[in-house]
Amino acid sequence: MAIQVIGDRIFQIETEHTCYQIQADRHNIVAHLWYGPKTGGQVMDYLQDYPDVGFAGSIADAGNDRTYSLDTRLQEYPCEGTGDYRISAAGLEDSRGLDLRYEGYEILDGRPPLEGLPGIRETDTPLQTLVLHLADKVTDVTCDLFYVADEENDAIIRSARFENRSGRPVWLDRTASLSLDVHHGEPVDLITFTGKHNKERQFTRRRLEQGIVSAGSTRGTSSHQQNPAVILTGPDTTETNGWAVGAMLVYSGSFRADVEMDQLGQARLVMGINPYGFRWKLNPGESFQTPEAVLIRSDEGLEVLSLRFHRLIRQRLIPPRFRNRPRPVLINTWEAAYFNFDRKTILDIARQSADMDIDLLVLDDGWFGSRNSDNAGLGDWEVNEKKLQGSLQSLIEEVNAAGLDFGIWIEPEMVNEDSNLYRTHPDWVLKAPGRGPVRGRNQLVLDMTNPEVVDHLFQVFSKLLTDNHITYVKWDMNRSLADRHSDHLPEDRQGEVHHRYMLGVYDLLDRLTKAFPDVLFEGCSGGGGRFDAGMLYYTPQIWCSDDTDPHERTLIQYGTSFFYPPDTVGSHVSASPNHQTGRRTSLETRAAAAMPGTFGYELDPETLDDLEREEIRGMNQLYRDLQPLIFHGRYYRLTNPGQGMALWEISDDDRVLVQGLVYETEPNALRRRVRLRGLDPEAVYKDADGMRRTGQALMTGGLLLPVTSGTDAPVTVILEREKTQ
Ligand code: GLA
Repeated sequence: MAIQVIGDRIFQIETEHTCYQIQADRHNIVAHLWYGPKTGGQVMDYLQDYPDVGFAGSIADAGNDRTYSLDTRLQEYPCEGTGDYRISAAGLEDSRGLDLRYEGYEILDGRPPLEGLPGIRETDTPLQTLVLHLADKVTDVTCDLFYVADEENDAIIRSARFENRSGRPVWLDRTASLSLDVHHGEPVDLITFTGKHNKERQFTRRRLEQGIVSAGSTRGTSSHQQNPAVILTGPDTTETNGWAVGAMLVYSGSFRADVEMDQLGQARLVMGINPYGFRWKLNPGESFQTPEAVLIRSDEGLEVLSLRFHRLIRQRLIPPRFRNRPRPVLINTWEAAYFNFDRKTILDIARQSADMDIDLLVLDDGWFGSRNSDNAGLGDWEVNEKKLQGSLQSLIEEVNAAGLDFGIWIEPEMVNEDSNLYRTHPDWVLKAPGRGPVRGRNQLVLDMTNPEVVDHLFQVFSKLLTDNHITYVKWDMNRSLADRHSDHLPEDRQGEVHHRYMLGVYDLLDRLTKAFPDVLFEGCSGGGGRFDAGMLYYTPQIWCSDDTDPHERTLIQYGTSFFYPPDTVGSHVSASPNHQTGRRTSLETRAAAAMPGTFGYELDPETLDDLEREEIRGMNQLYRDLQPLIFHGRYYRLTNPGQGMALWEISDDDRVLVQGLVYETEPNALRRRVRLRGLDPEAVYKDADGMRRTGQALMTGGLLLPVTSGTDAPVTVILEREKTQ
């Protein structure tokens, strides 16, 4: 049993390696007791200290007991206006405040369904859920806190559900998915993944000082700038040592992760929908469910934390039918032709790709309406038969005849003003009354809060996928939201626009992926602007970044790897010089950087000579051979790119792939040495030249890397584990 009740007011959730303890205290405050390694049966309430701290308020029930203050107490779901002056998890727009107190609990087998939101899936390995019932007697708002225990993955999945039991409407203005308090006594580091378009998820680590640090997005998407996944660690935590707690939101819209280091040296993480601009009306009897947040703890460093997140995402998040299914090596037309193509361009790419042993051609932007640049046509999803010189299905037949499957690019959520859709339905966009709309890439955002819009899109894309033999869809989203007004919603619900937008997107994704379960959907938002667990629930892979420069990619993929496994990472070989940075690199370098992901190409085959085509055939063969390993193997970061090389290892019980780029080759130097991870110390591993080394030696003495030459020198070493008789 993962969940246990000790006495009748202490709740313990044990996973394989971790223990979480909660107490409903004497004032019915839900106190946080412990999140750490197992305690050997010890209840950790003795760590709670009750100092009389100046200017720390005491709740009325504590009478004159100045030592009881919510400002000093570790809690599970702190509210505003209770004398706790730190960041809070929940708040109402009500001068009476919100004061949630414990009322009871339930333990459920499995997990309650999450309506309208992506979430952690049930599999054959059972889940168990602790529900704590909280209520505010004054406003008659209740809140259920959910703790879904996934023992095997060492995960606790948190969320909250509010209900208005009063006779009048209330407005929620802050509804976090989780709050987590950390005991005092040592410095705490915060790791976030920051960036911009073309440079997503850069690893960023800082020591917390007294005060608040925020990572978040107000863009209506999880964003290129911050990722909805953060890590708290001890000051000395490394890849292989020390504690680390990762928190990952299963959500793709505006979010916020606030972390406060308080006056007593206690850290608090609050994470959920961004409260900025958020105001949700609950009529009597209505409820509101927050997105889920996955908490995983490791006491063996960041590497184990990542391995646990990878396993959870593979087992419990991505659509199950794609779990062990080989994914196609694809070629995408974007960097090959941008908007400038006709039927011949596409068929030339297809035929040459078939000759290079590529599986699938993706026709990117520009195939529909009057879409010949990014200024017009979005929203008009009728095939541009003039440009394609015939029907889409006839083009697909020719591509199929050449030996490739066919995939297509769509951007459902957007519209250009220069489009028939906008001319017919100008009220279908988000726009503040009396103001001009905020434009981004010359496009406006469709009002996904309006079911009529979602139904229209479902019909349009269902027809596209029914009429044409399409096996892959790239679902793009190419601007940030700005306007917060929907003509579809009443005035008192305008604070709901950005979250309802996301619910509309999820609804469309849900309906389309259910209607076309065999179509592989890849997420994209200007590359990795919506690379999050919410999207991965529907799209098992996401285009990682529009930056295809292999050197840059190793930095982006390094940051991405802390939460997301390589099989979710769309990564392709593109042209040299690179279109984003102008950097010149060899094909081998580009292939090494793209290999730990869902492999493919973004280039015009016409530009390749015979030798390069031959090389590409070899690369595809190698990738196909390695794909099962990449998709289920354990992923280890062997170096931090700050050390001058980005190296990773992916291993299972049979093989070990050691790969990466050495950024600079040093003259007169010994070969670089890198220690491998996670091998069987007793086993013997053999490389392609027949060299045999024990796992123990490779993990302690390490592996001598091949001699490198030049900059961004590729390394690919494959070791086979010898079978014991
Ligand atoms: C975004 C995507 C690109 C490409 C273009 C098309 O930027 O990330 O890969 O599909 O849109 O407009």
